[in-house]
Amino acid sequence: MKKIKIAAVVGSLRKASLNRQLAEAAAALCGDELVFEILDYQDLPFMNEDIEFPAPAAVQRLRAQLQEADGIWFFSPEYNHGISGVLKNFLDWMSRPDEAQKRVLNGKPAAVSGITPGMSGTLIAQDQLVTLLSFLNMRVMNVPRLTIPNALEQVTDGKLVLKESEPFLAEQCRAFINFIENNEFFK
Ligand code: FNR
Repeated sequence: MKKIKIAAVVGSLRKASLNRQLAEAAAALCGDELVFEILDYQDLPFMNEDIEFPAPAAVQRLRAQLQEADGIWFFSPEYNHGISGVLKNFLDWMSRPDEAQKRVLNGKPAAVSGITPGMSGTLIAQDQLVTLLSFLNMRVMNVPRLTIPNALEQVTDGKLVLKESEPFLAEQCRAFINFIENNEFFK
């Protein structure tokens, strides 16, 4: 049986990002059942229709990576009660049809998680993200979503060491695998 491929999109570019560390924890927890790849999109330019065709190299590479993935798992910080600018820019690029008129996000399963030192657990940003992903016709797994507040309680020397959140992350991973397997496009 083929291994499920998950592409993880982290909505923060900083090196010590808690959301990146959460994605890395998910990769470790999900184990051998999956191919789990965290996308690097630092080289993505700002969306500008003047440079849309031909698509910049970063856009082409990311489209190919998303195309290959069976599911997309978003790890989003909350910036001013919304998603980050870099994540919005990523989604704006990936929402557009390629030269063959294909939209790579269309119909793809999506999972949503987020972690913050604050109290909201990124819930407000996630609600915005879910609305956006639904508009892009992604198949959003609404249950479970993972919101982790008060992150510093699970951080030691800048390193995220999950304690009470770990079983919830493992549960979300299992649920997402199941969700992907039941997606009509999964073969
Ligand atoms: C934040 N932060 C933040 N946190 C939160 O819970 N709700 C919020 O609305 C905001 N707003 C916000 C705006 C901006 C511009 C920044 C830079 C930060 C704090 C944020 O959650 C914290 O910096 C996280 O650590 C960012 O995620 P990463 O980079 O650790 O993944």
